[in-house]
Amino acid sequence: MSDNPLLRVENISKTFRVQGKKLHAIENVSFTLEAGKTLGLVGESGSGKSTLGRLVLRLLESDKGKIFFDGADLSKMSKEKLRALRRDMQIIFQDPKASLSPRMTVGDAIEDAMAIHKIGTKASRRARMTELLERVGLPSEIQYAYPHELSGGQLQRVGIARALSLNPKLIICDEPVSALDVSIQVQVIQLLRDLQQEFNLTYIFISHNLAVVEYLSDEIAVLYLGEVVEQAPADELFKTPTHPYTQVLLDSILKIPETPEMKQQMVSIQGEVPSPLNPPSGCTFHPRCPYADDHCRSVKPVQSLVADGHVAACHRVKEPQDLLLLNAK
Ligand SMILES: Nc1ncnc2c1ncn2[C@@H]1O[C@H](COP(=O)(O)OP(=O)(O)OP(=O)(O)O)[C@@H](O)[C@H]1O
Ligand SMILES: [Mg+2]
Repeated sequence: MSDNPLLRVENISKTFRVQGKKLHAIENVSFTLEAGKTLGLVGESGSGKSTLGRLVLRLLESDKGKIFFDGADLSKMSKEKLRALRRDMQIIFQDPKASLSPRMTVGDAIEDAMAIHKIGTKASRRARMTELLERVGLPSEIQYAYPHELSGGQLQRVGIARALSLNPKLIICDEPVSALDVSIQVQVIQLLRDLQQEFNLTYIFISHNLAVVEYLSDEIAVLYLGEVVEQAPADELFKTPTHPYTQVLLDSILKIPETPEMKQQMVSIQGEVPSPLNPPSGCTFHPRCPYADDHCRSVKPVQSLVADGHVAACHRVKEPQDLLLLNAK
């Protein structure tokens, strides 16, 4: 990673108050992301992926830690500056319909996004909107359609066009293809990859499915109960998955087709996710881990270096001979 990344997240944490208890949604997460690259964020439902995305965008305030975007400390930024910066950081959701007004044509919705940020004249915005619709693979007549008239894949393309209309540097893609049919998923992911190359976009790509993340990601962080349990360059993570949780996620790729129901099924591969309101002692993965011993049940592992740029929070990553055993699996 370079010394001058587009995004630098340092030890951010976020707790929510739920039923009078503290819920640690994100715990001490750090990463850097270079311009033009993709960080994949994977983990089961409730692992904190969306919360982390919202913290980066400052749609949520973190309890502690720092976020630097393009060298500037977001926590020290005025509301005014942050508003301007919002253009540079966009988000694409799983359900694009939820962020589109049912009473506005999709063309107006894209134009409106530019108007809010005072970009161009009405005529130039219309021209750009038509051009963007075409770029994301939609016929220009679709600008006159309302969201309910479009398919899921078409809506996601509209969401992408709208995000692009602001010329962002960073796009957080929060499960952007999870609700789509498999064939459409592939098309949308290919589109995102092409657009990344064309506009030098930087992505945080969130998914519960490692296979989806693999295609786009340069680096992958695996979240479990709000913590990064493993992080590595994508090819390294696939070659040498080291945390037992990552191994479970990888095993499940081959077995699990990509549908919302299957998302639930994946969760139950090895027991249920513990409640984040009452996380297990020691290593929070220990109740589901085939290797857990007394040490794992009582002492929380810290992130250890597995290889250059590859970390895992597992007690088994301690001695070189352990590593060899793990990697031989
Ligand atoms: N506003 C909130 N108030 C209370 N708890 C919250 C809030 N937002 C998120 N949480 C909790 O924080 C944890 C992380 O949630 P988050 O939505 O970030 O997970 P996720 O990984 O995006 O899950 P999914 O795959 O289902 O989208 C969960 O336990 C969730 O219930
Ligand atoms: Mg989410």
